[in-house]
Amino acid sequence: MGSKRSMLLNGLGDLVAETAPTAKRFVDLFSGSGAVAIHVATKYDIPVVASDLQTYSAVLAGAVLERQTALEWEKIWDAWHGAAKTIYSRHRPPKVERISKKSIEEFRDWSSRRPSMPLTKAYGGHFYSPVQAIWLDAFRATLPVKQPARTVALAALLDVASRCAASPGHTAQPFQPGRMANRYIGEAWAKDVPSLSKEILRSLSKVHAKQVGTTKTADANSAADDVKETDLVFIDPPYSGVQYSRFYHVLESVATGSPGEVSGSGRNPTRERRPQSRYSIITGATKAFSELLAKLGDKGATCIVTFPAHDCSNGLSGDAVRKIAGENFKVKEKLVQSRFSTLGGVNVKVGNGRVARHAAEELILTLSPK
Ligand SMILES: C[S@@+](CC[C@H](N)C(=O)[O-])C[C@H]1O[C@@H](n2cnc3c(N)ncnc32)[C@H](O)[C@@H]1O
Repeated sequence: MGSKRSMLLNGLGDLVAETAPTAKRFVDLFSGSGAVAIHVATKYDIPVVASDLQTYSAVLAGAVLERQTALEWEKIWDAWHGAAKTIYSRHRPPKVERISKKSIEEFRDWSSRRPSMPLTKAYGGHFYSPVQAIWLDAFRATLPVKQPARTVALAALLDVASRCAASPGHTAQPFQPGRMANRYIGEAWAKDVPSLSKEILRSLSKVHAKQVGTTKTADANSAADDVKETDLVFIDPPYSGVQYSRFYHVLESVATGSPGEVSGSGRNPTRERRPQSRYSIITGATKAFSELLAKLGDKGATCIVTFPAHDCSNGLSGDAVRKIAGENFKVKEKLVQSRFSTLGGVNVKVGNGRVARHAAEELILTLSPK
């Protein structure tokens, strides 16, 4: 997942360290992987509110933010794994012995005939091997019932699903069989879902917030209605003119448990299941961002904004972001080196089929009330 994790070590972390301790809450309006929200929640003694348009994001952040103590993961794992194993044993998924066009067709055919296993039916033989897909369904169907164990287990499963997907860093399209891609498909499909799930559940259980926070699945401009003057607001909006939901639809399906009807080589869900954002529409992004900053300026909150310094495919640019910020706030600026996932929005040649990332400069703006 494209995240601000590396920027936390490259300027952003220091800025948060200067501003977070005096804020009453930290509000991350585009929380994505939850990297920044989780960083703040585990380091500073303030509640964190994380929101994003996509459901999976609230799960990832919620697994840490909504908990002030470590979880006893062994008992949770034993019950979860036992229940999933019972479901898994009812199926006999074909094992991956060799990757070829023919074997992949057989895996897809087998998977498409599993009506009771929604993730397998949608993604088996595409993003996941049949064995992985049946395990993902089995774990998804047997999540712990009680909170916070349920959210922590689901966040672990999202991480597993992200690591096992035979796709280039996001889940817009799986690799298609071919001389170059077969190696990547083989590497992804060699990953063992149960042992990864156990390992991630174990490590995630130990991470918790200093103060209990909350998560929301919401549009940033609506979520901003709840912002208070004493909040520190983090704003890391989309920079791509292609909807994020196109890149993370498989994770959204794991989070909701239901992919619905999917189609095409990307196994795309129907449009109603793909949250649409004004921030990824070239005619809407600048207006959406201006409205958001005007609202936050009226509230008198302090904000940190990160954005690529160059022109971006959603019509926003570093210059526009700087200008809009200046209309509503006093602005302090920092420029750092960064790496962006191109998310389909920038032309970068990718010879080996791996994720397209390119180096560029990124702005970090600190906004304080005028
Ligand atoms: C640049 S990413 C944020 C990455 C995040 N800071 C991290 O470290 O992972 C932008 C995020 O904005 C979300 N998003 C897009 N439009 C949105 C909207 N209108 N309201 C809230 N979130 C939105 C996307 O789902 C995506 O997760």
